[in-house]
Amino acid sequence: MKRIHKLPDHLVNQIAAGEVVERPASALKEMLENSLDAGASKITVDLAQGGIKLIRVTDNGGGIAADDLPLALDRHATSKIASLDDLEQVGTLGFRGEGLASVASVSRLTLTSRPHAAEHAHQIIAIDGALHPVEPAAHAPGTSVEVVDLYFNTPARRKFLKSENTEYAHCEATFERIALAHPQVEFMLRHNGKVIWRLPAQDMQARVGALLGKDFIAEAITVETAAGSMTLNGFVGSPTYSKASRDAQYFYVNGRFVRDKTAQHALRQAYRDVLHHERHPVYALFLSMDPAGVDVNVHPTKIEVRFRESQAIHQFLFHSINKALAATTAGSSSPIPAQGDINTSANVSEPQAALFPPRSPATATGGGSHTPVRPFSYQQQSMPLHVTREAIGTYDKMFGGLREEESRRLAEEAPAPASPLPAMLSPTQLQALPQASEGIPPLGFALAQLHGVYILSQCEDGLIVVDMHAAHERIVYERLKTALEADTIPMQPLLLPVSFAADRMEVATVHEHGEQMKQLGVELAPLSPTQIAVRGVPVWLQDGNPVDLARAVLKDVREFGLSQVLTERRNELLATMACHGAVRANRQLTLTEMNALLRDMENTERSNQCNHGRPTWSRLSMKDLDNLFMRGR
Ligand SMILES: Nc1ncnc2c1ncn2[C@@H]1O[C@H](COP(=O)(O)OP(=O)(O)O)[C@@H](O)[C@H]1O
Ligand SMILES: [Mg+2]
Repeated sequence: MKRIHKLPDHLVNQIAAGEVVERPASALKEMLENSLDAGASKITVDLAQGGIKLIRVTDNGGGIAADDLPLALDRHATSKIASLDDLEQVGTLGFRGEGLASVASVSRLTLTSRPHAAEHAHQIIAIDGALHPVEPAAHAPGTSVEVVDLYFNTPARRKFLKSENTEYAHCEATFERIALAHPQVEFMLRHNGKVIWRLPAQDMQARVGALLGKDFIAEAITVETAAGSMTLNGFVGSPTYSKASRDAQYFYVNGRFVRDKTAQHALRQAYRDVLHHERHPVYALFLSMDPAGVDVNVHPTKIEVRFRESQAIHQFLFHSINKALAATTAGSSSPIPAQGDINTSANVSEPQAALFPPRSPATATGGGSHTPVRPFSYQQQSMPLHVTREAIGTYDKMFGGLREEESRRLAEEAPAPASPLPAMLSPTQLQALPQASEGIPPLGFALAQLHGVYILSQCEDGLIVVDMHAAHERIVYERLKTALEADTIPMQPLLLPVSFAADRMEVATVHEHGEQMKQLGVELAPLSPTQIAVRGVPVWLQDGNPVDLARAVLKDVREFGLSQVLTERRNELLATMACHGAVRANRQLTLTEMNALLRDMENTERSNQCNHGRPTWSRLSMKDLDNLFMRGR
């Protein structure tokens, strides 16, 4: 029988290193966090061979007194906490006092430091856990930690290291996570002597843009919410800017990057409505809260945390993001980045002015060279090839001779004296249409329908193309949700009920739940043991196929039970219903219908993307078009 004995410190450190220093990136993390805790405003990282050969972190922080240098490398020695109270309120990134000791036990480590008040620096070297005496050294105020040959003394661990490229990738990810949360700090990263990142001190938006991409930040929705002592700041990607992997998800609690199930779940829920389940949103979010409300001491590398009130955190995150995403109404921003500056209007020239004639001669471009304002007619256009009174004016100018006769005829046809609108609109419809004087709606006015799939619309600075089915589906879906949230989806009774052959289970479901299903705007009645009649459908879905709709609803109710369908699965069901009721491709829409759809999009939450996260519209600015035709080159 073997006797029990105490392990030597060095071995204890090496065992701990297994948890704390999993790979070069984890050593880098410990070192960067120490620099930040020391209040550095500038941090430089040098790596060689993916960090396996060398990790050197140099900072201009507070430094370590010469006498304290050996302690810094000692296990359970820290300047950051002194009591259990401190631990519960911890505001620094480190506090366990084992970071440097662990790294030192599995590498050749040199720690050089000079507090700002000291005349020169001191240095201590630890090799294989053994400390050399402290000696004077040269160093600017601040600290350098140099880690060479990681795992040189623990070959078993070394075998677990991946290729240099892989280890480097992990180091860079660690660097980015930390740099993202500290924009006020200047950072530099070099690998094998080559500068990879050079980040000046900057504001949060600039830092996020630098690290996550300019196109992300251009499209991102700013989040800034508060509840009680909690605040949430940052940026979430618009649903159309999603990724196939989770890589670009940055979530921080009190400045610490964490992977947290509660947060991930809340965010997934918030995006569920606007994103296909195989796509992942991009975000950089910073949650600040009372440190007492979160336990950061549940994981050796502190990548996980435990919230005291995780339910409240979940709600706060969900509501914050859900609200931010709800603001993505069509026209509020472009789902597909416009290629140029959308406000540009410098290179208008004659032929365009002729195609889109000015409303009054006063704004005409005349010679047609450069004008500051695009002389568009922002009026509802009539049928695509139908000549409106305004267009007549152009033809008139171009060909002459039409004026008198034509304008008289058109004046008679026109429903309102000054309006070029076709007579097909009733006075109420006319009133509903925005007039040019009210400004041009973001999605402009419909011009035509393309191949029964797309709506073309002229907007302030170019052409909008709308995916008719995708857009309509989103609008219907949002309406169904709002109605059901309020109470009941309004139903349109069918003048002629439609019946369909059903199986016994379906008929039984109608017997059992038919009455409550009216809440969904669907009225079904059993006709016989094998027949069901559809008597009513939601008003917004009356153009769809009532039988398909009824079958879809029945299938869900049968599978999940009515109460589930009305609660947890509600949005899924409504999305399915919307899909059945949305305008199909190849349906001819009138211009009035198209314009109504555009206005609906502008007023519907989340209408920038369909229920599956695809964009519903795109814009070609005049500049894009000019580029297409190489105008102005
Ligand atoms: N870059 C640095 N600048 C100033 N002090 C440092 C730095 N790195 C480490 N230290 C000091 O060494 C101590 C031990 O560091 P570490 O082992 O990482 O433990 P912890 O960060 O948990 O306190 C720290 O508490 C701190 O006082
Ligand atoms: Mg530390």
